[in-house]
Formats: sequence, structure tokens, C-alpha cells
Amino acid sequence: MSRKEYFDSYAHKWDQICHTDTEDKLKKLIRSLRLKKGSQVLDLGCGTGVLFPHILKSIGDKGRLFGSDFSPKMLMEAKRKNQNKNIILICAPAEKLPFIPESFDYVIAFASFPHFENKAKALKEISRVLKKGGKLFIAHLLGRKELKEHHRLSGSLVCRDFLPSENILNKMLYSKGFKKIVIMDNPSLYIAYGEK
Ligand SMILES: C[S@@+](CC[C@H](N)C(=O)[O-])C[C@H]1O[C@@H](n2cnc3c(N)ncnc32)[C@H](O)[C@@H]1O
Repeated sequence: MSRKEYFDSYAHKWDQICHTDTEDKLKKLIRSLRLKKGSQVLDLGCGTGVLFPHILKSIGDKGRLFGSDFSPKMLMEAKRKNQNKNIILICAPAEKLPFIPESFDYVIAFASFPHFENKAKALKEISRVLKKGGKLFIAHLLGRKELKEHHRLSGSLVCRDFLPSENILNKMLYSKGFKKIVIMDNPSLYIAYGEK
């Protein structure tokens, strides 16, 4: 089974498995990012779109939200749940994004970055599609160690998916042109930030 097939197979039950009690945490997380009204945002590896209502609230009517994912079934769920003219869904791998350079003010990779097979390539693409001064947030509702354990215990295809160490991610981000890098890692929240 490929990774795409793996995520496709979870799409219809994703929210029941992963998001029965996350609503308040997601709301708080997105608020803490202080997205500006009218921004262009890419939710990278958006899955079923659990962040969409929160992002839309932050960016307002003049903002535009793109949700991208390589799993068509995740995107179908996202479409079923979220009908809003300011949301555009795109089926594409993070390693080859179908956007022109400097398209976005923000890229948010929530609970998705560890699963990208080629992280360096994905970061290069993220950097390419961010505007100058644009911001990347890699975020999780678990710390790096806790997430690694969570994936390991799943015993599934993603059991070896993990976040790079702080040192390695720092170097990766720096080499792709990110500055003002901050990595915050505690047991119930992980945010890696970089600005292009
Ligand atoms: C753990 S799920 C998280 C989904 C959503 N962000 C959430 O928190 O509910 C990871 C998502 O990343 C997507 N994904 C994994 N690898 C990808 C890749 N290389 N390119 C694009 N999407 C990918 C999967 O299809 C899946 O929807």
C-alpha cells in the first residue's frame, strides 16, 4: 500500500479517529498564529480540512484559503464538510506544488510534515510558493518525542514518520532560505516557524 492509499483509506473515519476533542485546541492554535486579515493561506496536507473554519475566521472575507493534499479522498471529505467560496482545494504532493512562486502569505503544515517523504524537497517548494516575508508554521498538538511514540505505537505504514531534530530542521529551513527560525517543542504543542 502506498502512503497516498493509506491516507485515502482513513479519510472517511479521520475526524472520528483524530478530531473528536481537538476543536478548542485547533481554535487556540490558529488564533496564536495571528494570521492577518485578507491573507492568502496554504493549508498543506490539509486532510479533511479541520483547520479551515479557524483559518477562515482569522483571514476574513477578503482572505483566500487553499487546502492541498495528495489524498483525493481526504479532499473529498474536506469538500463535503466545507462549502465556502474562499476555499480552493488542490490535489498535489507537497514535493511538487502547482502554484506560481510567491503566492502565499502563510503556509501551515499541520500534522502533515512528518509524513512528507522528501522533506527537503517539500521545504524548497514551500519556500518557492511563499511571498518574501511569508511565514511557515509546522505545527502539532503533540511534542516531537510524543509524536514519534504516537506514530510508532500505531504499528502502521506511518510508524517511522517523525519530525527531524531541532538541529536538523534548523539547518534544513536555513538552507531553503528561511530566517527568524523558532522551534518550540513541549509535550502538547510543537511549532516550527520560519520566515522567507
Ligand atoms: C496526519 S494527516 C493530517 C491531516 C490534517 N492536517 C489534520 O490534522 O487532520 C496527514 C495528511 O498529510 C497528507 N500527506 C501526507 N504526505 C503528503 C505529501 N507528500 N503531499 C501531500 N499531502 C501529504 C495526507 O494525505 C494526510 O491528509
